[in-house]
Amino acid sequence: MKGEAILEVEHVSKSFVGLKAVDDVSIAVKRGHIFGLIGPNGSGKSTLFNIVSGTEKKDGGRVLFDGSPIDDLPSHEILQLGLARSFQIPRLFFGMTVLDNTMTAFKGQIGEHPIAALTPEKWEPQESELAAKARRELGLLEIQDLYLKPPTEISGGQMKLLQFALAFMGDPKMVLLDEPTAGVAPRLAQDIFNEIDAHRRERGTTFFIIEHRLEVLFRHVDHVFTMDQRRIIAEGKPGEIVNDKKVIDAYLGG
Ligand SMILES: Nc1ncnc2c1ncn2[C@@H]1O[C@H](COP(=O)(O)OP(=O)(O)O)[C@@H](O)[C@H]1O
Ligand SMILES: [Mg+2]
Repeated sequence: MKGEAILEVEHVSKSFVGLKAVDDVSIAVKRGHIFGLIGPNGSGKSTLFNIVSGTEKKDGGRVLFDGSPIDDLPSHEILQLGLARSFQIPRLFFGMTVLDNTMTAFKGQIGEHPIAALTPEKWEPQESELAAKARRELGLLEIQDLYLKPPTEISGGQMKLLQFALAFMGDPKMVLLDEPTAGVAPRLAQDIFNEIDAHRRERGTTFFIIEHRLEVLFRHVDHVFTMDQRRIIAEGKPGEIVNDKKVIDAYLGG
């Protein structure tokens, strides 16, 4: 699997003031596939994503993305390399419209030049190109009608979809999604996963997804890692994972 891996995590550990959150985790995610990460609350899943995306520093181990070490790179540089993430709790600018939020996400990804503000004649064509791209991303998710509204006026489900548009703006090679269907209606959860499938199919995007709704996740993923008590306890195809005693015990044991 090594040669085909886009993301490799090797012996990664992390403690918070003496409390272990991630303990010697090694995993590999295959390019162009959809991989899942499951496990009871507090097992270390979000911390692992935070380390990979550069928002949390690890204590030890290695992380390779697309063949290069990304250890200790700041999160915006990891994003520029093509590894995007969405958060469990959406991070949006509530004073801006949906369209401006989507464009801002992209500018954050390419890095904004303060000097550009001084030469609007150079910047404006790029700006309208960007707006067109933002509308296209929102359109793919069928939320284009919302683009002039502030995020306070859209529903929780629409906000989830907006998070997706933000993550996809920079055409990432890989996207980490932390509980993309948390708090949304079952139909929308299905729509979100159909969208993930479409992105993988049409653009070859790799996905790594933390998800509590196993019945939805298992219909879409190629491979699942299970964490319990800070470690990987099982991995395999969904059909293997549902029958794995260690996984069943982890969920029942809490
Ligand atoms: N910033 C933090 N400070 C202290 N402890 C934390 C922090 N983030 C997570 N933890 C702890 O690390 C463990 C793993 O948490 P987390 O990665 O959020 O688990 P999961 O996403 O699987 O629910 C938990 O015991 C949690 O309380
Ligand atoms: Mg979490």
